[in-house]
Amino acid sequence: MQALRTRRFGQESLFFEEIDSTNRWLLANEELFRLSGATVVADHQTAGRGRYGRQWHDTQGKSLLFSVLLRPESKASPLGLLSLMAGAAVAHAIGRIDSHFSEKLRLKWPNDVLIDGRKVAGILVESISAGTRSCAVIGVGVNLRQSEDELPKATRWPASSLQMLSANPVSREDLAAEILNDLEAAYDLFQEGRTVELIDPWASLSLPLGTELAAESGGSVIKGIYAGVGTEGQLLLKGTDGTLHGIHSGEILWKDTCDE
Ligand code: BTN
Repeated sequence: MQALRTRRFGQESLFFEEIDSTNRWLLANEELFRLSGATVVADHQTAGRGRYGRQWHDTQGKSLLFSVLLRPESKASPLGLLSLMAGAAVAHAIGRIDSHFSEKLRLKWPNDVLIDGRKVAGILVESISAGTRSCAVIGVGVNLRQSEDELPKATRWPASSLQMLSANPVSREDLAAEILNDLEAAYDLFQEGRTVELIDPWASLSLPLGTELAAESGGSVIKGIYAGVGTEGQLLLKGTDGTLHGIHSGEILWKDTCDE
């Protein structure tokens, strides 16, 4: 990766033409890597993992699919911020790689990357902590070259690919390098507990404060006004009765699916 300017992220990397899931593989083999930044890239996943146990589908060679291993220190920021941090890194990297996208990029909490309201990238952060073993993995999937009929239909949020949204072809290698450059810089802030500097790049691409939203969390739907994110990365929603809800785990619903 020529555009890679990192000290560690992506410097140690493995490539698989086909694998079940780069996240699963890295979590299962974390003991092979001592330091943060080891990266596993795949051309195709047969059992790509999405959030909430969903599957992440791809067509061979048409996506950027990779996972990075992290070994957060105990004094680092709350783990919930890793999700936001990764979303911001992916979105800003896409905007740099093709300036055509920069005005249209948005982040949907916690880390879905949208262009013109359509999801082009998803991120899954998974962690393990058992005895002396403790690590987290950030998994990134970016739809690069799929056509409409190669994208999954039954998604909760409409999907798209970078190629469908811009005439300029995006190099998979360059985009991976740009994301890793951003991720490493953001991870340094994370390790130092510099929460505000970590949240700002995310907030700069989030929905406008005051947007009416509905979110699903723990099986119930909460409706309210978007009031930003908290210091642990939780979504803040102000309900109609003025109650401020802090949602640590859940997802924002597509507007057509939240009118009961
Ligand atoms: C989502 O549901 O939006 C998150 C999708 C994350 C997909 C990526 S692809 C690379 C990495 N390996 C996986 O199995 N999942 C993540």
